[in-house]
Amino acid sequence: MKKILVTGGAGFIGGNFIHYMLRDYPGVSLVCLDALTYAGDLETLAAAFKNPDFKFVKGSITDRKLVFDLFEAEKFDAVVNFAAESHVDRSIENPAVFLQTNILGTQVLLDACNRFAVPRYHQVSTDEVYGDLPLDRPELMFTEATPLHTSSPYSASKASADLLTQAYHRTFGTPVTISRCSNNYGPYQFPEKLIPLMIAKASAGQPLPVYGEGLNVRDWLYVEDHCRAIAMILFGGTVGEVYNIGGHNERANIEVVKTILRQLGKGEELITFVKDRPGHDRRYAIDPKKIGDELGWQPQTLFDEGIERTISWYVNNESWWQNILSGRYQTFTPEAFR
Ligand code: NAD
Ligand code: TYD
Repeated sequence: MKKILVTGGAGFIGGNFIHYMLRDYPGVSLVCLDALTYAGDLETLAAAFKNPDFKFVKGSITDRKLVFDLFEAEKFDAVVNFAAESHVDRSIENPAVFLQTNILGTQVLLDACNRFAVPRYHQVSTDEVYGDLPLDRPELMFTEATPLHTSSPYSASKASADLLTQAYHRTFGTPVTISRCSNNYGPYQFPEKLIPLMIAKASAGQPLPVYGEGLNVRDWLYVEDHCRAIAMILFGGTVGEVYNIGGHNERANIEVVKTILRQLGKGEELITFVKDRPGHDRRYAIDPKKIGDELGWQPQTLFDEGIERTISWYVNNESWWQNILSGRYQTFTPEAFR
């Protein structure tokens, strides 16, 4: 696998994946296709722009002509699709763009893979396609056999993309793999998601909006562990298979928020309980046995270590997220980083 298309690489996980691959897989070249929506930030890729094995193309995965022209010109060995609308709250406000990007964009990429006989398409999916688990049954976890049962327009659009990906494999023989990961955290996460939002608010001494009673549980995975799992699936996974990715790091939201306040030396009086998210999933928990048994993947970063590293990263890289809060990030061009 020499040339890989990474869609959505100016976002959180795609950006981390690009840095991870350029560091740990010498000889592989990467093309990033990103529409630079509100969630895309070229500064996330600043170091990659200096690497001759990296190329950036601005464009949408829903733009069939642009995508087909790119596939024809580049002759990819693999496609990893991170590009998506990814925030549940935005999907409640405005579902349409989630269906456009997450479902129809996936279809365009699958069609291009068929047309240009790309040897591997990897769909980056989420544990949210399984719906949620009750809080009082800690023994229950999502396996790859758990039925899809979605709650939000976001998770419904991701599940639709998964079904389409599997249908292309069965009908056309498209060589696909799918991964379903739990909540990620780490450097370069957009400050609308729980952890970076709370770090930004706490740093500014502003109220921290915790939905409901803060008892919803998420299963947190350090982003680099996710990136390594995807690389292992790309190079060693079985075509047609789904792999769950998670590290048994379940935490109630309120615990996460208190950890952030503690490390930043701020008081818990900043916590403000606000109206709950409609349809709020109670608990996610991934059973990662299959990827461990088949590919030997294991998470390397425990939550306590990862959250400390992440908070320190946000403290030491405040200009990165201040450029987002001020809107300056939307004026950046690739030339500024070359
Ligand atoms: P993100 O919102 O940080 O980044 C998304 C990126 O996709 C942005 O750079 C954006 O500009 C780009 N994009 C959006 N629409 C596009 C389009 N039409 N064409 C091209 N690019 C487009 O998202 P993230 O948190 O990095 O998530 C990446 C993927 O991982 C998503 O598919 C998401 O569903 C999945 N996922 C995320 C998590 C998580 O905890 N964040 C967990 C599991 C799975
Ligand atoms: P989020 O980071 O949006 O990820 P997801 O909804 O995909 O799991 O939210 C993580 C959890 O934090 C979720 O239970 C909702 C909660 N939350 C808050 O309590 N306050 C907030 O301001 C946000 C953004 C999330």
